Amino acid sequence: MSDERFGRLTDAPVTLLLAGVRVIDPNDGSDSIRDLAVLDGFLADPAALPPGAQRLDGTGLVAAPGFCDLHTHLREPGADGAETIASGARAAARGGFTTVCAMPNTDPPLDTPARLAWVLERGRQAACRVRVIGAVTTGRQGKTLADLVEMADAGAVGFSDDGAAVPSHDLARAAFSCLTGLDRPLIEHAEDALLATASVMRAGPTATRLGLTGWVPDAELSVVERDIALAVETGARLHLTHLSTAAGLEAVRRARARGLPVTCDVTPHHMALTDEWVAGSRQFAWEASGDDAQDVARAFDGSCRVNPPLPSREDALALLAGLADGTVDAIATDHAPHPPERKLVPFEEAAPGMIGLETALSTGLAAVEAERLDLATLIGALSIRPAEIIGESRSLAPGQLADLVVFDPLARRRVEAAVLASASANTPLLGVELPGVVRLTVAEGRVTYRS
Ligand code: DOR
Repeated sequence: MSDERFGRLTDAPVTLLLAGVRVIDPNDGSDSIRDLAVLDGFLADPAALPPGAQRLDGTGLVAAPGFCDLHTHLREPGADGAETIASGARAAARGGFTTVCAMPNTDPPLDTPARLAWVLERGRQAACRVRVIGAVTTGRQGKTLADLVEMADAGAVGFSDDGAAVPSHDLARAAFSCLTGLDRPLIEHAEDALLATASVMRAGPTATRLGLTGWVPDAELSVVERDIALAVETGARLHLTHLSTAAGLEAVRRARARGLPVTCDVTPHHMALTDEWVAGSRQFAWEASGDDAQDVARAFDGSCRVNPPLPSREDALALLAGLADGTVDAIATDHAPHPPERKLVPFEEAAPGMIGLETALSTGLAAVEAERLDLATLIGALSIRPAEIIGESRSLAPGQLADLVVFDPLARRRVEAAVLASASANTPLLGVELPGVVRLTVAEGRVTYRS
């Protein structure tokens, strides 16, 4: 597909001047309006640019370190109708991401060095860096441990059976023991399969009203607590992904207060959307008054089915508060593309997941506008903090390879399927107006997106 908005990591390095842009660098907490120069792909002194270098007016724009998504479903191999590595990377670039971590629940799953190498090879030509997460168990079957050491050598930045938790205590202990000393986290999808059996949305008054089977928060908490105990026992790193409950977050808060090697992320949808969206609400967690008029025509929309399910309003606000106070390290999208035939079905039969790469920044900016989050914290949680978890660094200091995003925080746009770079459009945000438009993404010194 040729679309001149997008570039690739294999393009020529860029030289340009961004004049008068607001530069926010969470590395040192700096926030200032200045010129930002890139010379042959490297951040440079503006005075060093050749005369006639391309100049972009940065007035009203924010420049920040490139975003890093710890949780992306690229669907290749196996489901390239929903997404490909190339289309997912373009969606990432359009969202300001310069790195995505591909989840291993593909078909076949990414559980061997050769399969990881296949994804990494295709990623080299993409519109962002593609990192890989290896499966914890062979075939993601939850029965035997995959060869984590070999996969780490082949480039795995972490391990996960995402879509499901590592099912048993013994297997989880074996995985953590294997990871001790490897400096790669076990990235856990914390959900007790037995407690979550047959549930399709969050348990609570809305599930009861809609007559849908509810998912109880203990399904998350029991695995969070098990894994924290195993991280203590083994000394291995634990990263809890897409936390969706206040109770799970509290357990992490306690673990971190004890100095344990536990990190976590939340998705934009778990901090901003609520279980009431399944009943047709389209109000953010911080807006909902409890008696908002819900659009019955939108109720049971399969695009609201996601795993873990959309939280109660109280839990969404607790997750957002956890992000604001630093307990939550990162925002991860859990970008989960699905084709219409898996979503335009009765709610209970819809495949769980929603896309998120192209709306993550905007959802965060909506929380900033609502004064639930400050801009620097949002940027840190999208860029340097997730990057650290996989051993990447980001810096806006001169001399560094340029890796950055430039966005207009105030411009507004309606989310529309026709303009999404993702090959899928399964998001309940379609039609919703959001703040924030990415104008430029530069990864490894190359322009990967420009609007
Ligand atoms: O909603 C989800 N979708 N949660 C997961 O854990 C997996 C993901 C997917 O692969 O579609």
